[in-house]
Order: sequence, then C-alpha cells, then structure tokens
Amino acid sequence: METKEKIKSLDSENLGALIFENRKNNAYIQNILENLGRLPQNFDGNWLLELLDNDSSSIRFLAVKNLGKLKNEAFLIFLTKIAKTDPDTNVRREAVSAIGRMRKPDTKKILFEKLKDPDPKVVCQAIRGLLVFKGEETVDEKLKSLADHQNEMVQQVIRKEYFTRCLKEKAQAHSESFDYLKNVVVNGDTIEVMKLLQDESIHLTFTSPPYYNARDYSIYPSYKSYLEFLRDVFQEVYRITKEGRFLLLNTSPIIVPRVSRAHSSKRYPIPFDIHHYLVEIGWEFIDDIVWEKPEASVKNRIGGFQQHRKPLGYKPNAVTEYVMVYRKQTEKLLDWNIHQYNDEIVKESKVPDGFETTNVWNIDPCFDNVHSAVFPYELCKRVIQYYSYKNDLVFDPFGGSGTVGKTAKSLGRYFFLTEKDIKYFLYIKDKIDIELVANFPSRFLSLDEFKAGIK
Ligand SMILES: C[S@@+](CC[C@H](N)C(=O)[O-])C[C@H]1O[C@@H](n2cnc3c(N)ncnc32)[C@H](O)[C@@H]1O
Repeated sequence: METKEKIKSLDSENLGALIFENRKNNAYIQNILENLGRLPQNFDGNWLLELLDNDSSSIRFLAVKNLGKLKNEAFLIFLTKIAKTDPDTNVRREAVSAIGRMRKPDTKKILFEKLKDPDPKVVCQAIRGLLVFKGEETVDEKLKSLADHQNEMVQQVIRKEYFTRCLKEKAQAHSESFDYLKNVVVNGDTIEVMKLLQDESIHLTFTSPPYYNARDYSIYPSYKSYLEFLRDVFQEVYRITKEGRFLLLNTSPIIVPRVSRAHSSKRYPIPFDIHHYLVEIGWEFIDDIVWEKPEASVKNRIGGFQQHRKPLGYKPNAVTEYVMVYRKQTEKLLDWNIHQYNDEIVKESKVPDGFETTNVWNIDPCFDNVHSAVFPYELCKRVIQYYSYKNDLVFDPFGGSGTVGKTAKSLGRYFFLTEKDIKYFLYIKDKIDIELVANFPSRFLSLDEFKAGIK
C-alpha cells in the first residue's frame, strides 16, 4: 500500500500508471482513491473513467467521487451513464451529486430525469442539484410537483423550499414564557387546564402518564379509551409546545393481573401503542432512551421459570422503562432554537461534565410512601438539563408528587404542573418550598382560581 503522503505527492500521470500496474488489486486501488484529497484544476481524470466499470461498487463510488471534484463537463456523458444505469444506489447518488456540482444548465435534463429514480436519496440529490436553478419556471414547476411525492424526505425538502407557511406572529419571544404559568400547580384535569393555555406556551414537557389500570389513581373503561385519552392529552401538549421543542414521555409495558388461575394476566405494550398516535399528531420521533433499574428493585417474575425451566414459560424480570423523545415539527434546525437564547443563558445552561453518553440510563427507582410512581430526581435532572435552557418553562401534565416541578426549580427553570387528584396536589404543595424563585413564588391553584388569574 502507498502512504497518504506519497499518494498526495504523485501527479495524475503517475497515479494512472500505478493504478494500471495494480489493476487486479482492488484493495490497492481503493487505498489510492480514498487518499487523493483535493485535486488541482488541471488534474487529468481520464484514468478514473476506466474504473467506472470496476466490479467493486466501492471503487466505482470512489472513482465517481473523485471525478466529481473536477467539475469537468467533459465527464458529463460518463457520469450521466452511471447515474442512469449503475445498479448500486450509492454510486448513482454520487454520480448525481457530481453532475449537480457542475452547476451547468446542460445538467438540468439529466437531473430532471433522476427525479424519477426509485431511491429517494438519489431523488433528494437531484433536487439539490436543481435548486441551484431555483427561480427558473421549468425548474420550480418540476420541483413543486414533488410536494406529494410518496417519500417523506422528498416531501419535506420541497415543502421547506417552496411551501414554508408564513407563521403567524408569536405572542412572545421563543425563550420567554408567560408569568401566569411560572411555578404554578393546578388541581384539575390536564386537558381542561391546557385548553386555557395559548399556543406555544411551554418549552419542555416531561411526564409519566397513568399506567392504564395497573395503579389505583385512574381507571379507564378500555385500553383503547386509555390510548385515546393519552392521544388527546398529547395533542394539546403539541399545541402549547413552542416550535421545535421537546416532549419526553416515560412509559413501559404494564401487566394487568389475571382474574383467576383459569385466566392469563395481560401485558399492554404502552410505549409502542402510543407511539403511532404521537407521530400522527405531528410529534417527530427523535430518540428512545432506556431507563434501566437494578434487578433487585423490580418485581420478581422469573421465579417460576427458575424452578421449572420449561420453554414458553420464560418471564424475564422487567428492569427497563422507556423515555421516548419527540420534537414538535418545524422546518427550522435545532440551531435556530439554540440561537433564541442570549450568550449568558447558553453559557449558564451548559451541561456539566459527567453527562450520560449512551441511551441506556442506569438509575435507581425511587419509592415514596404517598405516591406509588414517583420519578427519581436523577432521571428528571438529566431530562431537564439535556433538553431545556435556564429560565425555560417545564411542564408535567401528570404532576403526581411534583418531582418534575421540584427538579426544574432546583435547576433554575420554571415549572407548570397539573394534577387531578387532590391528595397528590396537596402532597406537591407540602413538598415544594414556597420561597421566591426569581420573583415567582410557587402557587397552588384550583381550576377556578387558575381561570380567574388568566387575563
Ligand atoms: C404516573 S403518575 C406521575 C408521577 C410523577 N411523575 C411523579 O414523579 O410523582 C400519574 C399521575 O397523573 C395523575 N392524573 C391522572 N389522570 C390525570 C388527568 N386527567 N389530569 C391530571 N392528572 C392526572 C394521577 O393522579 C397521577 O398522580
């Protein structure tokens, strides 16, 4: 193998000769192609053409890539052939990219043709090449017609380029929130409360909804009605969430015990069933975080199997829950969200060393005498630190014992909680200190009191 330095020092003629001498050695050729680096304007790329027929798709890909660097119209005919006929989709895409990089009017015809490629990645590459000519009637017409393309990535690019809605003026700056929501806990049904809020009021929602009928605090007539209730909750959460901001939803499959020994218990895969409702609402799936607990802290289900060891009767101890991460749809990149904060807030919100680097979070669960399903502080801390900025408004529609509120407050964020059950509402009141937080004392309101406070 030649070294990187040697490859970079050779001129086109010498490189061509080396490739010819080693024409049967694909590993050798690949090493040369990978290390060519920037090519000078006068580089003679003719020897690269030979490699367009190579059996290895990696070599064809690299040959096309290097031809693309030359932006030489003389190669258009060869690149067009590859873009049309190469069986490997990455090679076709690279050829379309090379054609697009020429930025020449003659390339439009072939790029139009590539809008019909079966691989959406190739289509997106052709769109990219054509967007250089945005504003020309024929180009705009062809690209706009892709707004209903069957592939969602293609739709997204075209909609962003041509159909960005003129959003109505926002009631406040992105980094701000309404005073009447800051450090407030409302005793009421979360949907009823949310209906009173303006669009785009909240920066982050972190919540753990009722576990269908597995715990005592809420009972639903059927699993379907439970999922539909959650759908309605997260529809409202979507409306009141600021553009491009996050929802983190903690759920896990649950088990409803059997009626008698003659029946089986039933497991309900809540995270997987709620997911498609969320996506339909418009929440964009971002990540799945797994919260892992020590085995000793969870219910023992494997005991029976340990005794009998009979296949089919295997029931592993469930040591995980999910924290699913979703983002409210926007055409803006995350950078836009970040740029809405001043330098001081960005600096103060920087996540300190020791943050979790994987999507498996090992955290001990928390047990409480009053509430049967409280978040551990560490879980809330990570979510709030990683997904919000200082002074943001953090929401939990299912307030429970108020862990999200307490943690938000300790991290310099504001909280807004709703909790239906008066027992837990009073419990939160007991646990959250009433002292001033940046001039906003914690307030505990009935639904009527909250309504009365909204101007
Ligand atoms: C799983 S617990 C949340 C526990 C909380 N994460 C904590 O750390 O304490 C769900 C809570 O939602 C409350 N809840 C159930 N239905 C509600 C509704 N429609 N509106 C508001 N709260 C509700 C229950 O009373 C319960 O306290």
